[in-house]
Amino acid sequence: MNIDGKTRTLGVIGNPIEHTVSPVIHNNLANITGDNFCYLPFKVEESNVKAAIEGAYALGILGLNVTVPHKSAVIPYLKDIDPLAKRIGAVNTLVSCDGGYKGYNTDMPGLLRAMRSDGIEVKDKEVIVLGAGGVARAVAILLSDSGAKHIYILNRTISKAKAIADEIIKDKGEIVTAMELSDYSKLSGNDYICIQATNVGMYPNTDCAVIDDNAFYDKITKGYDIVYNPLETKFMKLCKEASAESFHGLKMLLYQGIIAYEYWSGKSISDDDALKVYAKMLESMGKT
Ligand code: ATR
Repeated sequence: MNIDGKTRTLGVIGNPIEHTVSPVIHNNLANITGDNFCYLPFKVEESNVKAAIEGAYALGILGLNVTVPHKSAVIPYLKDIDPLAKRIGAVNTLVSCDGGYKGYNTDMPGLLRAMRSDGIEVKDKEVIVLGAGGVARAVAILLSDSGAKHIYILNRTISKAKAIADEIIKDKGEIVTAMELSDYSKLSGNDYICIQATNVGMYPNTDCAVIDDNAFYDKITKGYDIVYNPLETKFMKLCKEASAESFHGLKMLLYQGIIAYEYWSGKSISDDDALKVYAKMLESMGKT
């Protein structure tokens, strides 16, 4: 990387930020594409979100990623917002535009592209979503937009699952069913794709999964965990024990970054280049 007078700055704002893998994604992408970009982490306190965005724009920063806990907090300070990000209520990518930043959500398109890269297609499939928090809601919206045949949202607190189901049903019809987590035995099929959309099983509490019963995993053929630390979660182990294919969330992280980079650079990143960056991510995590 040669920083000179023409270098454009990119970065990520969040708190904490020390463990972010995003600089590995974007600085490697800049190397591969030859773009004169430099991507940095910025720790931003909640009370400074507005100042950070205005300051970044004043400094001519080309774009920013936004991570926990600021994904909704940035919205009031944007010049414009993409319809998907607005619907999800969370922005993870800011792109410089006339007078400020336009906000996008690349997490969910990133999940879709990661699933496709792993050979998982949700169109016309029955999909189980575990959880009904902010991430699960976004996943359910994505699935309903992507032609899933039916979505079952299973959550410990049924009222939250119902709220998401009602929201989607209003838009798309009866393609969603809300269920209590413990009601999985009522699911009759045995060819479900399951997306684990809670943070259960994430480091350091790695010995947990929202459902432990092997009988549940017998219903699944493909299990996708949004968690990527550890790279093999308890959910994934249970899937494997039931002969289901299982995937961790690191490719979702990769592709949300790839899509953000495509917005900033105006270039399309090939799957080959994406996979080169993926190898660098694994290397940076000591997982080669
Ligand atoms: P996020 O924004 O990451 O989605 P969140 O909105 O706090 O986080 O949602 C966390 C999700 O994980 C919720 O669905 C939560 O279930 P409840 O709605 O019942 O709280 C789920 N969750 C967290 N810990 C859980 C546990 N030990 N067992 C089952 N579900 C759990």
